[in-house]
Amino acid sequence: MKKTLVAAVAISLSTFALTSCGSDDAASGSDGSDDVKITMGFAQVGAESGWRTANTKSIQESAADAGIDLKFTDAQGKQENQIQAIRSYIQQKVDVIAFSPVVETGFDAVLQEAKAANIPVILTDRAVDADPSLYKTFLGSDFVVEGEKAGQWLVDNAKDSDVNGDGTINVVQLEGTTGAAPAIDRAEGFADKIKADDSIEVTASQTGDFTRDGGKQVMESFLQSDDSIDVVFAHNDDMGLGAIEAIEAAGLEPGKDIKIITIDAVKDGMTALSEGKINYIVECNPLLGPQLMDLAQQVIDGEEVPARVLTEESAFDQAQAKDVLADRQY
Ligand code: AHR
Repeated sequence: MKKTLVAAVAISLSTFALTSCGSDDAASGSDGSDDVKITMGFAQVGAESGWRTANTKSIQESAADAGIDLKFTDAQGKQENQIQAIRSYIQQKVDVIAFSPVVETGFDAVLQEAKAANIPVILTDRAVDADPSLYKTFLGSDFVVEGEKAGQWLVDNAKDSDVNGDGTINVVQLEGTTGAAPAIDRAEGFADKIKADDSIEVTASQTGDFTRDGGKQVMESFLQSDDSIDVVFAHNDDMGLGAIEAIEAAGLEPGKDIKIITIDAVKDGMTALSEGKINYIVECNPLLGPQLMDLAQQVIDGEEVPARVLTEESAFDQAQAKDVLADRQY
């Protein structure tokens, strides 16, 4: 029997006991069905990027479409806020908890608490470095592959990327939030691919915290200390867009004087790509809501779910960006 139905029957019985002549209508949904709404507690990272805004919208809209009662918290980029939100969902006895971890480590204790309370946990978007038996499944991108795609593009386009013509392709890297899975994995995938070409070298690497402002500030300092930068590899579009502002303010032409590779493919990034200011974008799909709601229902119904659910993604050069821009949803 479905957990939703079990819950309906349980509520119906207790209503009957209290009132002696309670009717089953008390446990019915607004459509008159026997289903009681699933309650999901979702602890979001924050609102640091265009990607995150699209991800939040997808989760909120999909929960409403699936008839799931969503309790949503914005952790404002702070792990302690996220842990506090998860603890509050445990206290509220939600049916399922989902979250996108700010960083990879430090969630073991709260995950143990959820397990002890018999509340299933689904990871979305980002992984944790914890015992996999503490969560049901992990839905999201393969960030290592994303970094590899970025690195492979640079290897394939190395000839055009030595903008300064000194025989070395000097790359500066704008890293995502320190300790976050996408920052760790994208750097790893990129480094792995560029090993194929000795002329490519990462000369500086610093976090811009996945924000536009962070990307701009770090790029300004890179430009002040180095006039031989050929390429920027930004771990997301927002930092790449911040870097564009810094490059233009320095009197240089982004996409030409300095090549730019980013990850995400949100509308602002794709617009800059189609305008020639970015050279290549690897897609990271934020529209995880529908799959998350399906997985939540399956987990609550006691069905087996795969330990890892990957999202399908692509990558775009400037011509491809022009083709798809008009239909870009986010
Ligand atoms: O975890 C996904 C990453 O987080 C996105 O690439 C980035 O834009 C976001 O902030």
